[in-house]
Order: sequence, then structure tokens, then C-alpha cells
Amino acid sequence: MEEKKRCLKKSLFSLFAAMAFIFLSGAAAQQKEPEVPFVPTPDKVVLEMLKMAQVSKDDVVYDLGCGDGRIVITAASKFGCRGVGIDIDPERIRESRQNAIEAGESDKVQFIQRDLFEADISEATVVTLYLLSEVNLRLRPKLFKELNPGTRVVSHEFNMGNWEPDASSSVKTGDYRDEPRVDFWDEYTLDYWNSPTVYFWVIPGNVTGTWKLTIPDISGKNEFTLKFDQEFQRVKGEAFEGTYSIRIFIKDEKIKGNMLQFTMERKLEGHTENLHFEGRVQGHIMQGVLKMEDSPGKAEIKWNAKRAASTFRPIISSDSSGIE
Ligand SMILES: C[S@@+](CC[C@H](N)C(=O)[O-])C[C@H]1O[C@@H](n2cnc3c(N)ncnc32)[C@H](O)[C@@H]1O
Repeated sequence: MEEKKRCLKKSLFSLFAAMAFIFLSGAAAQQKEPEVPFVPTPDKVVLEMLKMAQVSKDDVVYDLGCGDGRIVITAASKFGCRGVGIDIDPERIRESRQNAIEAGESDKVQFIQRDLFEADISEATVVTLYLLSEVNLRLRPKLFKELNPGTRVVSHEFNMGNWEPDASSSVKTGDYRDEPRVDFWDEYTLDYWNSPTVYFWVIPGNVTGTWKLTIPDISGKNEFTLKFDQEFQRVKGEAFEGTYSIRIFIKDEKIKGNMLQFTMERKLEGHTENLHFEGRVQGHIMQGVLKMEDSPGKAEIKWNAKRAASTFRPIISSDSSGIE
């Protein structure tokens, strides 16, 4: 099954590449050539992408390589949010603007003719993509550099290599032949594209490094050293009482956007107590509340932590895993 999927992905990639070749031969006059030709996302998949990203009226949705503008126009009309579409091809931008006027959404959406690698995307709270895995991988550093932690990213069909998705879903689209411009696709590819995958990620905050944790309102030892290692959204931690005197086991580390959760196992006379931490990271400061398993009725206890700035390191690693 995996082998079949890989073959199909290769066939999909070849199809895109072949289309790109045909497309690019006619696009020589443009400044920079599009990396991916225009193939529209089917409406069902557009809806699934926006639902998976939990788009609401407070969001700003950016579609990088927006084609005919359908993703941001749907985001505005069905979810009431603002949207920005970026495409390098001036014809796509004209088409998107016309489609926005026809949908009555031109006050909520904006279309910019620009290379997506050069556009300022920092205000996005949701980013949508239908590019290629290879292009996604080149885009990854920009996503991590410019987007705030908590920003949701959804991609139609193409993954992000070793940045594993937080969720994915397969969409039954029915027959793609109903979609424009696809009447020449072969049966093999059609089968596959009848149930494309939508991938979903949340940009994680960065908790790497060494932190001094203080819990002002507990008796006894109330200062700890925390150390976190992190690659994308995978976090591993350890803790010590005071400054490295006694090692404390940490488990169930989880980061979603700026919110970090972990559990500290504190050995007390004869038993282990679980301390559940939840906090928000902002720069080199973390603040949150702690629940003690042994005192369920007790009010939540506040904690804070400060990072030694020199111990901060990037959480994005290079990808040598090969791209699907
Ligand atoms: C597969 S289509 C996706 C269209 C739309 N996002 C959708 O899902 O319906 C890819 C789009 O990316 C655009 N594109 C390719 N390379 C680009 C680049 N470097 N900068 C901006 N747009 C680009 C193409 O012109 C094309 O419209």
C-alpha cells in the first residue's frame, strides 16, 4: 500500500513537473518563473483545509500561490475572515480579483502579485498551500522565521518532509473530471486524486535551552533547572532541583503554539508525586500554572521560568529523509 502510494506520489510529481515544463516554455517573459503550475484545489478540499485550520472571522488567511483566489475567497465568504492571496502570475491575480468581485468579497480579500518566497507573510494566522513537497521544504525556514507560534498551516496533498503533521485527513472528492483543466489526467492519477490528503501543522513556540523555574508559593524547594531539547513540535525535557543537585524525571511534554505542557515526577518519602505544568512561552520568559496530583482540591499554583538566552537554539532541522 505504502509502495503504491509512493508510486502515485511520484506520478503526481511527474505530472506537475511536466505541466510546469509546458507552462514555463510559455512564461519566459515573466521575471521569475512559477515553481508550480496552476491546478485549482477542488471546492470540497478547500472547505476541508479551512475547517481543519479552524478558520474563524478573526483570522487572516494567506494562500501562497493563490491561483484563481478560491481559497481566500471561500475563507472570506464562508468564515467571515480576511484573506490575502499571493501569486507570481499576473493572469492569476487578475482572475482572483475578478472572482472576488463576482463573489462580493473584494473588501475582505487582497491579491498581490509577488514571489511567495519574497512576500511578507508575518500577519497571517493561517497559511494555505498547494505547491509541491520540494517547494514546501524550501518554504519551511520562512514559515518558522516569519509566522507567530500558533499560526496554522494547511497543505493540500504535499507534506513537509521530517516536520510531521499535527493532523491529516483524506478527502473524498468524487470525480476530478468535474474540475476545470484536468480532463487529460490518466485513470491511475485520477484514482489517487479522488481522495487527496490535507496536512495540518501548528507553528510551535521554541522552548529550547536552560530555564530557571521558580514556584514562589510552594513550601520547601521551589527553584528548579529545566532543560528542553526540541525539533519542530517534538519536545524532550529534564529537570533538576536547584542547580543540578537532584535529577527529576519529566514526561508528557507537548507544545501547541505558545502553550507548553509537561509533567514533573517528584520523588517524595516513599511515593512519586506528579506535578502537571502548563504555561505560555514568550521570548525567554514562561509563565503558567501547576496542578499537583496529590492536592486535587488545591487552587492552581503559579510558576514562572526564565531562559538563559545563550542556550536558545533553532528547532528546525534539515531534511535528509527524502520527500514523499
Ligand atoms: C497548484 S496551484 C494552487 C492554486 C491555489 N492555491 C489552489 O489551491 O487552488 C499553484 C499556484 O502557485 C503559483 N506559484 C508558483 N510558484 C510561485 C511563486 N514562486 N510565487 C508565487 N506564486 C507561485 C502558480 O502560479 C499557481 O497559481
